[in-house]
Amino acid sequence: MHEPLNGIVLAGGTGSRLYPLTKVTNKHLLPVGRYPMIYHPLMRLREAGITRVAVVTSPEHMGDVVNLLGSGRELGLDLTYRVQDQPGGIAQALGLCENFAGGKPFLVVLGDNILEDSLMEEAEIFRQQQRGARILLKAVQDPERYGVPRFEGEEIVEIIEKPASPPSRYAVTGLYFYDAQVFDFIRTLSPSRRGEYEVSDLNSAYVKHSTLTYGVLDGWWGDAGTLAGWHHANELARDLIYPVLPAEA
Ligand code: DAU
Repeated sequence: MHEPLNGIVLAGGTGSRLYPLTKVTNKHLLPVGRYPMIYHPLMRLREAGITRVAVVTSPEHMGDVVNLLGSGRELGLDLTYRVQDQPGGIAQALGLCENFAGGKPFLVVLGDNILEDSLMEEAEIFRQQQRGARILLKAVQDPERYGVPRFEGEEIVEIIEKPASPPSRYAVTGLYFYDAQVFDFIRTLSPSRRGEYEVSDLNSAYVKHSTLTYGVLDGWWGDAGTLAGWHHANELARDLIYPVLPAEA
């Protein structure tokens, strides 16, 4: 039996694109379908057998997030929390979890990503891969909003964050499998033009080392980080019920 992967949910950032909905609350506490947004990544981790999970959020909202999730016991999870003092980017938020990861591989899910598919199969593929990273792609109408892979044949040769002219029709979703080398790569990154440590640069570091693999999601996927995305995620997840949660609280 393989040791189960650990999980990380990133729920920091400012949520500025959803203002004023996010004026007094954290984006990840807004409703999506029947649940607070952050339940969706947590439940996908749980379903994939990943129960030891770190949640990263901002100092302003840590209290509310802990009030909602507590130790994680009610959700069948064992939760650890990390504070990101400033919203310095996804790679920076991930860097706070080095001790939590303890040298072992893990799955990161962005707190505003909602998906239809179970992650069980992909987690198994990554366990067998043993080293490097694995990202999950989804064909979208508006790739310029996301990290986008550039392909040569079937191979990813670069990942570009929000490109003006997308080199493919795929979005890199906010689901990332990493080995512990990711923390060495994070230390080599510089902030981007928008002042953030970008996850696309991190994934490109794995591309350079030829240790990045990818899968493509079959089912629907949504990023609820914009008003349009949040409305769409609510439509997609309207009837979604996670078996481990009571349908009515
Ligand atoms: O949803 C997929 C996309 O997510 C990827 O295609 C992009 O490559 C990736 O950069 C990201 O783009 P967004 O523009 O959606 O990122 P956003 O700033 O909305 O951050 C996504 C989540 O990451 C957010 O829900 C909380 C977390 N986060 C973000 C920042 C900037 C943090 O925990 N700390 C941060 O400092």
